[in-house]
Amino acid sequence: MSGRHELPQAPGPEEWDDRYRSTDLVWAEPPTPWVVEQTTVLPPGRALDVGTGEGHDAIHLATRGWDVTALDFSRVGLDKAATAASRAPRSVRARLHWTLGDITVDPLPEDEYDLAVWAYLQPAPSDLDLAITRVCDGLAAGGVLVLAVHERLDDHPEIPVFGATAVSGALPEDMVVEHVEWRDSDARHGTGVDLALRARRRAA
Ligand SMILES: C[S@@+](CC[C@H](N)C(=O)[O-])C[C@H]1O[C@@H](n2cnc3c(N)ncnc32)[C@H](O)[C@@H]1O
Repeated sequence: MSGRHELPQAPGPEEWDDRYRSTDLVWAEPPTPWVVEQTTVLPPGRALDVGTGEGHDAIHLATRGWDVTALDFSRVGLDKAATAASRAPRSVRARLHWTLGDITVDPLPEDEYDLAVWAYLQPAPSDLDLAITRVCDGLAAGGVLVLAVHERLDDHPEIPVFGATAVSGALPEDMVVEHVEWRDSDARHGTGVDLALRARRRAA
């Protein structure tokens, strides 16, 4: 029997390409408020933005002096992100590294990043542990994970959602959760509730 109605399957790269092709900018330009709030107090360093999409968080971070690896498996999303960044000063563009890759498949440097941003990457539930583990393994000791996910999304039952138990259960043991809160979803995503979390990789 097929497991069709067991768990929502996340859209793949082709579906994301179609979505990004279908309109000018899907998510419009402001960076994710949770990311802005949590990173303003951090000294710039090396950052990973996983599932960067049209790149608004990556561009924001590079503008603030971060050197950003902006990873996504949608070529169309990355092209749109690079186009959006083309309006930025050359020094900002030099800090942006648009990287095509699947977080569940492609190799990622380990112990490298001071910051990992995970903004609304909603993988298939079966991929959550793997994806979070790989992102956290990419952090240097003391590095910070700033994560926002949909915990409830009323208008999109096809999109996997994750609560605090699933997310904190997927974190590797050397990650310490420092803050968790819940917020109404941004209207651009529809009605629902978002989980916002900050965690830090313990020093070895
Ligand atoms: C909801 S969008 C969020 C984009 C951006 N972070 C934001 O907040 O606007 C999710 C993004 O994650 C990307 N994505 C989903 N699964 C991925 C995976 N396994 N590896 C890399 N990127 C992935 C999609 O292509 C899409 O651009």
